[in-house]
Amino acid sequence: MTDEQAGFGAAAGELCTASAEETKRFGSVLAAALRPGDLVALNGELGAGKTCLVQGIADGLGVNDVVNSPTFMLLNIFAGRHAAGGELNVYHFDLYRLASCDELEDIGAVEFFHDPQGVCLVEWAERMPEMLPPARWEVQLEYGAGAADRTIRWRRPATGKTHRRKTE
Ligand SMILES: Nc1ncnc2c1ncn2[C@@H]1O[C@H](COP(=O)(O)OP(=O)(O)OP(=O)(O)O)[C@@H](O)[C@H]1O
Ligand SMILES: [Mg+2]
Repeated sequence: MTDEQAGFGAAAGELCTASAEETKRFGSVLAAALRPGDLVALNGELGAGKTCLVQGIADGLGVNDVVNSPTFMLLNIFAGRHAAGGELNVYHFDLYRLASCDELEDIGAVEFFHDPQGVCLVEWAERMPEMLPPARWEVQLEYGAGAADRTIRWRRPATGKTHRRKTE
């Protein structure tokens, strides 16, 4: 899959994958379209493939560590790098068990959401949308007809820019 096939020139798109590997590949293509300061909100049912997609994105962002979602994890931080070669903080959130905004504030999440040298990947973003910057990528994963079929819908930040770069 290339950038062009994934259609990242458009404001939004939709594709179907037929395996976890394909979803990961889409993730690494999406990674190339991300810029420092971006946040990706990932939503979809349990087991839809959010972590799988995050693994592909993290791989595309040069993260070498194993990325997964251990029970009770709220945030893992990884060292990545962006295409231009600079260092990038990759924040992987899983808000599934989040009980309140306070929990996010306590770990300094709001600062991470606005880190100009970071990319945030937020599973279960729909649990606390009001905490997230409004200029964000939205990715929705849905089960398809076959056991390994998934539909992935994505939308760029509405402005086409990140919340951070708008003010620079
Ligand atoms: N096309 C596909 N895309 C992604 N995952 C797939 C696909 N087909 C099968 N799978 C399997 O579905 C599972 C997806 O699990 P994953 O942990 O990524 O889901 P999740 O959305 O993060 O779940 P949770 O809500 O528990 O965090 C994996 O076991 C993966 O191998
Ligand atoms: Mg997950």
